[in-house]
Amino acid sequence: MVRIASWIAFGGVLSAVSARPAREVDDAVKRQYSAPPAVVDRAQAVIDTFRLSWAGYSTYAFPNDELHPVTNTFGNSRNGWGASAADALTTALVMGQRDIVNQIISHIPKIDWSVTSSEVSLFETTIRYLGGMLSGYDFLSGPLADLADDPANVDALLTQSVNLANNLSYAFQTPSGVPYNILDFSNRSFVVEPNGLATVGTLILEWTRLSDLTGDYSYASLVERAERYLLAPSPPSSEPFPGLVGMNIEPTTGQFLDARGGWIGGADSFYEYLIKMYVYDPNRYAFLRDRWILAANSTIEYLGTHPMTRPDLTFLATYNGTAIQLQSEHLACFDGGNFILGGQVLNSDDYLNFGLALVDGCHATYAATATAIGPEVFGWDARQVPANQVDFFVRNGFYILNSGYQLRPEVIESYYYAYRATGDKKYQDWAWDAFVAINATTRVGSGYSSIRNVNVAGGGRFTNMMESFWFAEVLKYSYLIQVDDDAPWQVSRTGDNQWVWNTEAHPVRVW
Ligand SMILES: *[C@@H]1O[C@H](CO)[C@@H](O)[C@H](O)[C@H]1NC(C)=O
Ligand SMILES: *[C@@H]1O[C@H](CO)[C@@H](O)[C@H](O)[C@H]1NC(C)=O
Ligand SMILES: *[C@@H]1O[C@H](CO)[C@@H](O)[C@H](O)[C@H]1NC(C)=O
Ligand SMILES: *[C@@H]1O[C@H](CO)[C@@H](O)[C@H](O)[C@H]1NC(C)=O
Ligand SMILES: *[C@@H]1O[C@H](CO)[C@@H](O)[C@H](O)[C@H]1NC(C)=O
Repeated sequence: MVRIASWIAFGGVLSAVSARPAREVDDAVKRQYSAPPAVVDRAQAVIDTFRLSWAGYSTYAFPNDELHPVTNTFGNSRNGWGASAADALTTALVMGQRDIVNQIISHIPKIDWSVTSSEVSLFETTIRYLGGMLSGYDFLSGPLADLADDPANVDALLTQSVNLANNLSYAFQTPSGVPYNILDFSNRSFVVEPNGLATVGTLILEWTRLSDLTGDYSYASLVERAERYLLAPSPPSSEPFPGLVGMNIEPTTGQFLDARGGWIGGADSFYEYLIKMYVYDPNRYAFLRDRWILAANSTIEYLGTHPMTRPDLTFLATYNGTAIQLQSEHLACFDGGNFILGGQVLNSDDYLNFGLALVDGCHATYAATATAIGPEVFGWDARQVPANQVDFFVRNGFYILNSGYQLRPEVIESYYYAYRATGDKKYQDWAWDAFVAINATTRVGSGYSSIRNVNVAGGGRFTNMMESFWFAEVLKYSYLIQVDDDAPWQVSRTGDNQWVWNTEAHPVRVW
C-alpha cells in the first residue's frame, strides 16, 4: 500500500513540473529518483512469501503433509492428513487470504482421522491439527466470519476437532492417566515407552478449549489429570530446583525417570502453557500461574548465565539434577517471549526485563553467523570450546554445536512479544532482518527449505523440507510484528489479552 501510494505521488509531481524550465525539471526528477528511501512494505512482503510458499505446496503437495521444495514432491511426516494445510489456516486468516482460507476449510471435512499409514504423535497432532482447527473455528465463528464462503465448513472445524480428539483419547487409558505419546491407529495400540514433559504438558490448552467450545468436559479432565503428575512430581528428586522438573515420565506410574531439563525441546512448552493457561482463564488456572512463577524464579536464579567472553549476553543453561550445563538451542528461544508475556500478565518488570535480556541473547546468535540465522544448538562453556571455534567464541560468546536451521520460529516469536510489550521498533527491524536472511538463504525451487549450515554463505545444503510450522509460525509472527495494529488476536500491548496463542502459534479466544 505504501509503495503504491508513493508512486501515485510521483506521477502527480511529474505532471505538475512538466511546464517548468528544463533545469528545474532536472532537479525535480533527480530528487524523485535519488531521494526517497525505499519504503518496503514489510507486511506485504511477508504475505507475498506466504502466497509463494502456498502455491508451491498447493501445486506439488496438497493435501499431503508438506512440500519437498527442491524436488517438487511431497512428504507425509504428520500422518498424511494435510499438516501444512491445517497449520497454514490461521496465518491465511490473519493475512486475509480468502482463497487459501477456503481451499483449506473445504479440505478439513474430508479428512478421515482413523486412517493413517504411520504412527501418530498425540502431541504433534494436538498442537498442529487440533490447535489449527480450534483456532480456525474461533476466528471463523467470530471476528473473521466474513472470510468463509460456506458456513458448513466452519462448523466442520469443530466437529472434526471432536472426531480427532475421539480418535486420540485412548492414549490416556493408562494406569496413571499420563498418556502414551506414540499411537498406532491400525490396532489402537501405543508404543510402550516413557512420555516427555513437553509432550504431556502441551495438551491442556487445546483439549480444554475443545471442552469449553463443546460443553463436553471429558477432554479437559483427561489432560488435567495427566498435568497433575507434572505439578507434583514424584520422586521429589525429579524437581532439582523449585518448579523445574525432569523430562521423562513413565505412563504406567506417573513417575518421573530423570531430573534433567530446562526450557529446551522436550520440556519447553510445559512451562510455556503454565502462564498461557492463566491467560486463558485466570479463575480456573491460578494454580498453573503459581507453578509458572516457581519455575520462572528458579530459572532466573539458577539458569540465567552470562558467557565468559560476552558478559553482556544472557543465555539459559540446562540442568541434570543440580549440575548446570552451558548449552541451549534455537527451540529454547521462545523463552524470552514467554517471560515477557508473564511479566506483562503478572505486572512484573523482573520477568519482563529478564525476557528482554533473553531476546537479546537469541538475537546475538543470529547476528553472529554468515547467514544471519542462528544455529540449532549452541554452547558457551569456556572449557569445551571446539578448537576451530575459539575466535568465534571470543567474538560472539557462544560456539555452534549443531549448525542446521529448520525454518524454526522461536527467535522471531520472541521479537514479536518484545515488540508488543515495549513498542520498541528495534524488534520490528530485527524480525525483518531475520525474515530477509531466511528468505535469502532458504528460498529454493517451489518454496523454502531447511538448511544444513547457518555459518556458511548459502546455508550449506538444502535438506528439501518445508516444515508445516513455516506457515503456522514463522510467517505469522513475521507478519503480525510488522502490522502493528490492535486486532484482538494480536498479543496485547498491556497484558490484557483477548486471545492466547498455542505453541504452534494458533491463537484461541480466552475464556
Ligand atoms: C475418528 O474420526 C473419524 C472422522 O475422521 C470418525 O468418523 C470416527 O468416528 C473417529 N473415531 C473414533 C474412535 O472416534
Ligand atoms: C499393532 O500393530 C503394529 C504393527 O502395525 C505391531 O507392531 C504392534 O505389535 C501391534 N500392537 C498390538 C498391541 O497388537
Ligand atoms: C518470585 O520472585 C519474586 C521477586 O521477583 C518474589 O516477589 C516472589 O515472592 C517469588 N515467588 C516465589 C514463589 O518464589
Ligand atoms: C545425568 O546425571 C545422571 C546421574 O548423575 C547420570 O547418570 C546421567 O548419565 C546424566 N545424564 C546426562 C544426559 O548427562
Ligand atoms: C526474497 O528472495 C527473492 C529471491 O531470492 C528475492 O527476489 C526477494 O527480493 C526477496 N525478498 C525480500 C523481502 O528480501
